[in-house]
Amino acid sequence: MIDQTVFNNKKAAYYTLGCKLNFAETSTIGKLLAEQGVRKVRPGEKADICVVNTCSVTELADKKCRQAIRRISKQHPGAFIVVTGCYAQLKPEEVSHIEGVDLVLGAEQKLEILQYLENLEKKEHGGTVIASQSKDIRSFSPSCSADDRTRHFLKVQDGCDYYCSYCTIPFARGRSRNGTIASMVEQAQEVALLHFGNKIYIRGLIEISNCCRNNCYYCGIRKGNPNIERYRLSRESILNCCKQGYELGFRTFVLQGGEDPALTNDQIEMTVARIRQEYPDCAITLSLGEKSREAYERFFRAGANRYLLRHETYNELHYRQLHPAEMSGKRRLQCLADLKEIGYQTGTGIMVGSPGQTVEHIIEDLLFIEKLRPEMIGIGPFLPHHDTPFAEYPSGTAEQTILLLSIFRLMHPSALIPATTALATLIPDGRERGILAGANVVMPNLSPREERRKYELYNDKASLGAESAEGLAALQKQLKTIGYEISTERGDFKYTTENI
Ligand code: 5AD
Repeated sequence: MIDQTVFNNKKAAYYTLGCKLNFAETSTIGKLLAEQGVRKVRPGEKADICVVNTCSVTELADKKCRQAIRRISKQHPGAFIVVTGCYAQLKPEEVSHIEGVDLVLGAEQKLEILQYLENLEKKEHGGTVIASQSKDIRSFSPSCSADDRTRHFLKVQDGCDYYCSYCTIPFARGRSRNGTIASMVEQAQEVALLHFGNKIYIRGLIEISNCCRNNCYYCGIRKGNPNIERYRLSRESILNCCKQGYELGFRTFVLQGGEDPALTNDQIEMTVARIRQEYPDCAITLSLGEKSREAYERFFRAGANRYLLRHETYNELHYRQLHPAEMSGKRRLQCLADLKEIGYQTGTGIMVGSPGQTVEHIIEDLLFIEKLRPEMIGIGPFLPHHDTPFAEYPSGTAEQTILLLSIFRLMHPSALIPATTALATLIPDGRERGILAGANVVMPNLSPREERRKYELYNDKASLGAESAEGLAALQKQLKTIGYEISTERGDFKYTTENI
């Protein structure tokens, strides 16, 4: 049992030397102490506890650590000084004899610090050493830091098995091991909570046309599918959807559709202008595929604010496996660059588990998205559609989708990331699981009921219940069971100096 009273009104100072991993771990130590009520010192204040997380990559690093410890103990006279990290693990006795040191914690004990602080009384004759032998280091303590606020550093691996002759890591940190996916997902949820609280933004999805000039192998509304009943909503019908949506509380309308050759840029522009005029307080998102830069500019001037265009896969060969020869991955990337430049809040993303996708492809997608810095990231599992060339391929998995959601959340803390309909179609609690992995948007279906089943991108696409605009009460109830609630705000991307 930890005696919490020793932490009353205490202040701590943290010092980190060395690698990013150390920074992530110090951040976790800070969180552990903060949970006990120990706050971080402000500049100039004297600390009651000092935590020094050391490095030992070279002799010079050891020397720097010693100097830092001495300086810190002078700066904070009387403070209880804890030294941990690689130097502490490798030379615990040496560290314990540095003046002022009260406690030396090895790698295994680093994140169990609360257990060892005891009564915080200073030691007169050298610090107490608590360190396991390097060969006995086994545990993995999950850590994540957000010190520079643009990104989160997540510890995914500790230790090393290579024993290179010049490197201390296998001795300082033990054998190679990693954390669980569950702990990573938890970290992602924490990051989303930090940025958005328990609020989930809602978008009213209006599927304006299921006619498409493209023949993507995965998509149920592809041109080559003769078995679907095609439709195109009239402007009046779209406006009517907006009206119903507005009354239900939606402040974002998403106009999504195939690349319908009969829907001209003039018509789209007019529709956007009408919605803008009638709903000046609402955001308009378009998701209508690849258009010319000029068309994107016109829609933007007419009042559209956001554009969703998944790149589907960054890898050119994989793009070829998913799309017929007349389509081009390069063109799609150009569209994304145009949209960003014009000033749209831009969304992109991928299908998880699409045929031919490898882990290497996904890494390319992560890096591309890292570079593009989109405001929205849409990812959902690939699901087969019975009337497509991919009818017999297996679905993407919920596990991989959820893992990727959490990776995207950690890499893009302020991005708008939906818990997609595809994930909710794949598993019954897909929406909740998506949110618990860091998603913060849902897009209930606001299309006219009689058309919904015709917008079948994949088999059994959900559009009723909590997936529908009329089902907001059901959605609210569902969110409540996991501690979240609907936000009635527009939910724009919040630009800061750090995330652009
Ligand atoms: N499975 C999952 N997602 C699909 N999409 C299209 N077809 C499928 C499918 N079979 C996704 C694409 C597209 C978005 C509108 O829907 O990623 O960009």
